[in-house]
Amino acid sequence: MSISETTPGVTMEEITALAKRRGFIFQSSEIYGGIGGFFDYGPLGAILKRNVKDAWWREMVELRDDVVAFDSSIIMHPSTWVASGHVAAFHDKLVDCRNCKHRFRADHLRSLDQCPDCGMRESLTEPRNFNLMMQTSIGPLEDSASRAYLRPETAQGIFVNFKNIYQSARKRPPFGIAQIGKSFRNEITPGNFTFRVREFEQAELEFFVPDDGKDMRWFDDWVSARKKWYSDYGVDATKLRFYQLTPEERPHYAKAGTDVEYLFPWGWGELESIAHRGTYDLDAHMQLSGKDLTFFDEATKTKFTPILIESSAGMDRTTLTMLIDAYRNESITDASGKSSTRIVLRFHPAIAPVQVGVFPLARNKPDLVARAHSIEQGLRAKARTQYDEGNVGQLYRRQDEIGTPYCVMVDYQTLDDGTVTVRDRDSMVQERVSGDSLTTYLSSRLLV
Ligand code: GAP
Repeated sequence: MSISETTPGVTMEEITALAKRRGFIFQSSEIYGGIGGFFDYGPLGAILKRNVKDAWWREMVELRDDVVAFDSSIIMHPSTWVASGHVAAFHDKLVDCRNCKHRFRADHLRSLDQCPDCGMRESLTEPRNFNLMMQTSIGPLEDSASRAYLRPETAQGIFVNFKNIYQSARKRPPFGIAQIGKSFRNEITPGNFTFRVREFEQAELEFFVPDDGKDMRWFDDWVSARKKWYSDYGVDATKLRFYQLTPEERPHYAKAGTDVEYLFPWGWGELESIAHRGTYDLDAHMQLSGKDLTFFDEATKTKFTPILIESSAGMDRTTLTMLIDAYRNESITDASGKSSTRIVLRFHPAIAPVQVGVFPLARNKPDLVARAHSIEQGLRAKARTQYDEGNVGQLYRRQDEIGTPYCVMVDYQTLDDGTVTVRDRDSMVQERVSGDSLTTYLSSRLLV
């Protein structure tokens, strides 16, 4: 058997079609015509995204003894966003076309002389500031006193709680605080499927270090740790780059910044930003709140404001990356020379929504069906499994398209000697495995 890629790369049309067909991602409120910049995760997409978040959490929190967990509220005191600078400066430049009434982000346009949609010359307005924070109101009255914001990043919840957390967790810098949660931005032009949306999830690590001259070492260590994470989960290294921001591209208080970028079908796009933020955030909250957020060292009886290294990754963008990166159109020629094609998602086993598919050879044979059900249930403790039945070729096709690394076929021989056929998604090689060793066989391959 030989397997080769027919067309390298994938188009966004292929990704959105597969996402809908197989239940990964749907447009939000589709029956009402959808709503721009919002998406829903279907049965498989919800598991895929959860696996991506779990993989981040495992690496960033559970496998470390210097990072603690956190989960703050989405709506915070409005002063938070004054101190952070979001009220004054979280803007994009917006332009309108007076002719076709379409809106654009000024920095996404090649020229301000001509509308890219209707082609009309000199129809675009002067760029004006548009604040990206989503507003809501709290309580029964809708006035300026009740105005609140849906957080545009999760990080500020960590900063304002810095003291509560280090005191209760008994941590001293260097240590980090991690959280995963929803953020909202009223993007002017959401687009590229789930890449730029108005409601999304961020996984943020805020790592506080003493000002002892080792801050840049910590920054470099976090860039390396994040590189290793993407590589561990199989993201194609040739499509990933770690772009070092120039001093002009960084905020004035930041000593260093690196963007993690992936080569999407439309070009390079940011997955994550890693930033050295100095003491800017804690200073800003201390100044506006009048509360002390310095670290008090009991041992030396001294206090200092720690320096912050931040890693902020978008979980929707990372999930989309996993889908795009795994997608292959393949052509297969079997031993008899017969050719066929398939779509396959070559997910890392830890990310794959289903890890083992189990089927009976025939769905109208109660003995086979009962045995397949029992094998599938027996594997649940060790893997994410799915029982399915139907035409064998179609079953394999479907599991390939949803990225299931292993399929187990229960046939008549199983009823005689307990063995099953295990098919490997990537090589399509089938192996006869005894029922007794099936769990060990699969778990050793899934725990890569
Ligand atoms: N606390 C730092 C911060 O929020 P950011 O670069 O604005 O930094 C971090 O955002 C990450 O959040 C981005 O790299 C991206 O993955 C994700 N993100 C930001 N805006 C997004 C949007 N509109 N849609 C999807 N993901 C977004």
